[in-house]
This record gives sequence, C-alpha cells and structure tokens, in this order.
Amino acid sequence: MKKISCRFLQRAIYYAPDELRHCCQRYYVKGKLMGDVKVLSAKNNSDVSLENIIKAKNELIEKINKGEKTDCYGCPLLEKAEWKKVEDEKFDHISIEHHAKCNMRCRYCSDTYYGGKLANYDIQKSLNELITNNKIRDDVQVAWGGGEPTIVKDFDKIIELVNKKIKPKTQRFFSNAINYSEIIAELMKKNEATLTTSVDAGSIETFKLVRKVNQYEKVLKNLKKYYEQSPNNLIIKYILTEDNSSISEIESFVKDMKKYGLSNANFLISSNYYDEKLSLDQGITIIYFHHLLIKNNATTCALDEHVRPRINKIASTLLNENRLLEKYPDTIKNIIQDLKEKKKSVKNIIVWGVGPYANLLLNNSVTFAESNVEFFVDSNPHKQGKKFRNSTVLKPDQILKSNLPILIAASFWYHDIVKQIKSEYKVDTSRILSSSII
Ligand SMILES: C[S@@+](CC[C@H](N)C(=O)[O-])C[C@H]1O[C@@H](n2cnc3c(N)ncnc32)[C@H](O)[C@@H]1O
Ligand code: SF4
Ligand code: SF4
Repeated sequence: MKKISCRFLQRAIYYAPDELRHCCQRYYVKGKLMGDVKVLSAKNNSDVSLENIIKAKNELIEKINKGEKTDCYGCPLLEKAEWKKVEDEKFDHISIEHHAKCNMRCRYCSDTYYGGKLANYDIQKSLNELITNNKIRDDVQVAWGGGEPTIVKDFDKIIELVNKKIKPKTQRFFSNAINYSEIIAELMKKNEATLTTSVDAGSIETFKLVRKVNQYEKVLKNLKKYYEQSPNNLIIKYILTEDNSSISEIESFVKDMKKYGLSNANFLISSNYYDEKLSLDQGITIIYFHHLLIKNNATTCALDEHVRPRINKIASTLLNENRLLEKYPDTIKNIIQDLKEKKKSVKNIIVWGVGPYANLLLNNSVTFAESNVEFFVDSNPHKQGKKFRNSTVLKPDQILKSNLPILIAASFWYHDIVKQIKSEYKVDTSRILSSSII
C-alpha cells in the first residue's frame, strides 16, 4: 500500500552528539527554517539501539500519514509511494557527525557544530549493531562532518571500522582542510572518497572575517596537496554570504585558485542556508562566478541544493529586468544575455539524475519550464526501472542512442556524472548543459 515518506526517513541515520537525526535537509515554511529532523535524544548507548531507531522512524511516518503536523511539515521531499516498512529497509546513508569540536568558528555556522560537545554514546557500538544485523545496503554512502572530522580523537578508529566492516563504495568527507589527512588522501587516491572544503573567501582578510581564523593560505596549500593526490575527488566550495559576495572578492578567489594551481578543480557554489532568500546582486554574482570559474578551466562548477531553489525564485527578474544590470560592466550583461538565449536550445532534453535536485530544477527553472524531457537516466541500479515524473528511469547508456543535450540534475555528484559522461560513455561534453542555466 502506498504511504507518505522520504528516502531519509526510510534509510538514513545522522549521528549528532546528543541526538540522532533523519536528515540534514533544510527548507523554509512561512519564513521558518525547517529540516534537520530529530529521530531521538541520545543520552546513552541504549537510547541509540537499532530497535529504538526503527521505532522512532515508524512513529514519525505514522504521524505524517495520519495528517498530523510533524517536524517534516511542508518538506518537498515527502512523497506518496510504495515505501517498504522501515524494519525491512537497510541504511543507505550514514552521516558521522557525532561531535561538535572544530578549529574554526565560521560566521555562518553555530555552537551546534563548534560548541565542543562529544557524543553521549559509543558510535562504534551503534555502527557495529547495524553491521551485525545486516542493516547496511550495498550502495551505502558514509558522510563525515561534525565539527571538524579530522580533529576528533576517535577519527582513526571509526574510519578503520567503516573501511573494514562497512566498506562503502564511496565516502564523503566535509573538512575545513586546516589539517591535511593522509587517510582521507589515500581513500581519495583509490577513488573511494571525495573531500569537500569550503573556502568562502578570496583574501586573507575576508577569510579571517568569515572563518574567524588566519588560515587562508594553509587551507589553500592543503587543498593543493589533496588535488595533487586526486584531482577528481576534490570539491572546492564557496558559501556566498553578505561578507564575501562582492565581484572583487570572487575575482580575487579565482585569481588565487590560479596561483595555487587549483583552477582545474571541481567547484560548488553554495549559499548560507540561514538566509531564506538570495539578493538580486548575489544572483548576478553567482552567474558571473560560474562563468569565471569555467572560463578559467574548472573541470566542473555546480550550484548546490541551497542555491538552486533560491536562484529559481529570482531567475525571472535576473533574466528580464534590464534595469538591474545597469550598474554592471558589459561582460556581465553579455553573460546574462547568453543565458537568456539558452532557452531555445533546451526544447528537448535528457535528464541525468532522479533525486530531489531534479524536481528542484524542473519544477521551478525559468529556462526549463517549457522543456520536454525525452527520458531520465540514473547510474544507481536501485533507481533504474522505477518511475520518476511518470517516466521509467533508464540506464545511462541510453544517452548514446540520442544526440539531445543532457541536463545533469545533481549538485554534489555533478563532477562524478561529468566524469562518467566523458570517460565511460565518451560523449562529447558539449552536450552537457551548463549548470548556470537558471
Ligand atoms: C557543519 S560542517 C562540518 C564539516 C567541516 N567542519 C566543514 O566545515 O566542512 C558541514 C557542512 O555544512 C556546511 N555549512 C555549515 N554551515 C552552513 C550554512 N550556514 N550554510 C550553508 N552551508 C553550511 C559546511 O560548509 C560544510 O560543508
Ligand atoms: S521529509 Fe524532509 S524533513 Fe522529513 S526526514 Fe525527510 S528530508 Fe528530512
Ligand atoms: S569549519 Fe565546519 S564545523 Fe567548523 S565552524 Fe566552519 S562550518 Fe562549522
């Protein structure tokens, strides 16, 4: 029987110091930031038992299906579908953020992540319980955050447990890169991990203002070291905030990427999730930023899941209000004009990716509003053959049977999909639609 749920309620677990969470989704309902939904309070080992996790997940799903107002209220990821019972599911997403110790104090972050709390429970014990009960799916993704993952005492032990017993095909590390971790670099080299580091500044001064430490150059040096080990698996992020979004700051960031030999890296443009809206100037900055990075030979540059819904809301104004552009130089006016022209080339498209990001793109984009999606593909075998927006999801090799442009509907895995299109399917990258199309 069909019921309302989401993939995180069904199959994800996020370990925080004093609670377990279902997700790290963030969205707004009537001006209120929602998401980051709690499974249970974790005061000791018995609180985080598998039995308690399943029970709490079931209780929340039941309330949602009774129409009660829950912490998931208004979430765009809720979907009525043939979901399994939670007890019959296996976890496909485990996020290890069981401490709040950090060597930075970013202005956009909070005590929740850098306040110093350590886990009230033994995370290794809990992971072992999932392993011994065969509750981990073969395509599980393990993500590492915190706090700063590289500075906690038990980092080496937990990573050993994950590598030896969970053996995820891929792990996602979120680190500020003040430290260089040989373990992370080794996993990246073996194509078993990606590292995402936010830089958020194009100068020592702005870095100090945003991140509260004087470590701009050290972070860039460490990113260069990671890049030399594994260029494909490094993602350099930039969270746009009111402190670092000027044209001159991002131009300076792009220059420094060149100086440190990082121009060819993968980039991700993000925004502060505490800001419900992007300003029109931030919208222009994002489009220009994307253009500059690609012009400087970035391998990829994507807009993340915070930017995408926010830029969708202002896209029409950005593309159509010429007055807005008056104060900007001709280069920027021309970039916006080019984006407007793109609409003609996207009448029929193929979409790669059937996650929430695909809905974000297709439901609200000014440019894609009138596009016809010929078919969807996804590399995850668990998604192939299933229905998405009334189409059956196909295997990626179907892109070889067509010459249509490909829209990559993903943010975090954008670089990986580009790699597959180029290396595995040998498809000309000119078929990939720019991720700056809004
Ligand atoms: C809380 S951090 C922990 C990991 C690590 N210390 C780091 O900064 O990468 C996890 C992720 O959340 C992102 N993040 C934190 N606060 C944010 C905010 N207000 N808006 C958008 N992203 C944010 C960080 O950039 C990082 O990628
Ligand atoms: S429905 Fe949304 S808020 Fe609730 S667990 Fe799923 S992703 Fe998180
Ligand atoms: S480095 Fe990460 S955890 Fe630390 S303060 Fe910044 S965003 Fe928060």
